[in-house]
Amino acid sequence: MFTSAGGEERSLLMMIFGGTGDLTHRKLLPALYHLMAERQLPEECSVICIGRREISQEEYRLQARASVAAHSRSGVDETHMERFLSKLQYRRMEFVSDPASYGAFREWLSENEALFRAPAVRIFFLAVAPEHFGLIVSRLRESRLIVKRNPDHRVMIEKPFGSDLASARKLNLTITEALDERQIYRIDHYLGKEMIRNILAIRFGNSLFEPLWNHHYIDNIQITSTETLGVEGRGGYYERSGILKDMLQNHLLQMLALITMEPPADLMPESIRDEKVKALRALRRFAPSGICEGIALGQYGPGVINGRQVPGYREERDVDDDSSVPTFIALRASVDNFRWGGVPIYIRAGKRLDRQRTQIVIEFKRLPGINYYQEFRDQPPNLLVIQVQPAEGMHFQINAKRPGNEFRMDQVELDYSQGSRFQGNVPEAYEQLILEAFRANSSLFTRWDELEQSWMFVESVEKMCDAGMQPFPNYAAGSRGPERAGLLPREDGREWLEIQLPRREEKE
Ligand SMILES: NC(=O)c1ccc[n+]([C@@H]2O[C@H](COP(=O)([O-])OP(=O)(O)OC[C@H]3O[C@@H](n4cnc5c(N)ncnc54)[C@H](OP(=O)(O)O)[C@@H]3O)[C@@H](O)[C@H]2O)c1
Repeated sequence: MFTSAGGEERSLLMMIFGGTGDLTHRKLLPALYHLMAERQLPEECSVICIGRREISQEEYRLQARASVAAHSRSGVDETHMERFLSKLQYRRMEFVSDPASYGAFREWLSENEALFRAPAVRIFFLAVAPEHFGLIVSRLRESRLIVKRNPDHRVMIEKPFGSDLASARKLNLTITEALDERQIYRIDHYLGKEMIRNILAIRFGNSLFEPLWNHHYIDNIQITSTETLGVEGRGGYYERSGILKDMLQNHLLQMLALITMEPPADLMPESIRDEKVKALRALRRFAPSGICEGIALGQYGPGVINGRQVPGYREERDVDDDSSVPTFIALRASVDNFRWGGVPIYIRAGKRLDRQRTQIVIEFKRLPGINYYQEFRDQPPNLLVIQVQPAEGMHFQINAKRPGNEFRMDQVELDYSQGSRFQGNVPEAYEQLILEAFRANSSLFTRWDELEQSWMFVESVEKMCDAGMQPFPNYAAGSRGPERAGLLPREDGREWLEIQLPRREEKE
């Protein structure tokens, strides 16, 4: 039985604005297919995909079938597919220039809702361009498709939430006129990724780690998210966002918050989010000095990736010939509190780099006495690697004796591969996000104060480091990024840790 927070049975009406778009076809429809195949959603469930183009129900279902087949994580089963398609409907609606369409939609929806036995949870998923978020939410409220403070009326909003601090505040004001915080599910799809969800389990479920999780035992933390891909036809979007808004403001700072937050009182969404926001508040802002210190920005030029020549960022479609948008960032962050004082947190992310990986590396301090044992000299420090993608898993590097008569030390990796242990059964991020929104669990979504703190940090980066003053392009596609990035940890006597985990079955 599928129940609300109060324990009453619920059905589901899922409305996707942007139902003909890329995100819907590549991520949302496959996610809904799997959720239905695994009976995670109620039998009384309708998915209404809203788009502008004129297509028939049959045509839409054919397209949906093809998209699920192409992007499903584990193939498709015909019985499940038929059941999924039977719950899918396409509705044409012009949501910008036709305000009256909302009233007509409400009447149609109410008639459909009345066919359900159990009261419905209404989830509106906004998979549309960000400039439409505020307008759609306002119109949903005016037409009473959503009612403020009704916990069964929920809106899921894609990123980016605003384009800077001021626009994010303005958008939030518009949205909170229509909905209260409990009804808003701001998406950062990284929070739905298995290994990101696993951070809390690793930190707070192991007596091995939590007592060491502080400046006494940890030397530095490195958060890396690199891609070999370029902007892949989304040059227009990237010109407005760049790496700061595409990665730093959301995914990278969310990972930092989960790694550095204090243990929450319990695992309720608000307790977790309270601790995350405290960590983000303690994140030191860069001073607006104008000298780009502690930060390296970059933009890729042409180069070779996997044996293939690729163009530079400025040669991509819909990108300015003299664009000053950064496609790479590396910085040294500090969380100024009792736990983390003095521990540098190195963050780097970029496009068109030498390889693809998102990983968090915790480097523990070396043992103080290690130099007294000749045999232990030069042993590397312990490392904990949390690998988010492509191959999800965890890897713990320790030192042990090499087998044999001689007492020689060796580096040993304790390796946990999620993919090989749970073959094909690891849900994709959007499955988890949709399911948790239905269950009214907002811990996988970003609360407004977290977002506000993230935007403040990003603004301090922008004020300190003017991308327009950088000698772009300053790294070749296929390289490890600009030279300046390598110097950042070196200035502190450290290095970027280039961890190559054993290659497992890779998936994006
Ligand atoms: N694509 C991704 O991988 C990805 C990843 C992360 C976040 N996002 C975010 O997700 C959102 C959607 O991205 P997307 O790539 O899916 O965009 P998209 O492919 O351009 O799709 C836009 C959708 O909006 C609909 N639409 C636009 N104007 C409309 C109007 N006036 N009335 C009715 N429908 C209208 C389009 O309908 P028609 O096609 O019928 O005109 C289409 O379904 C964006 O906020 C993006 O930043 C996307």
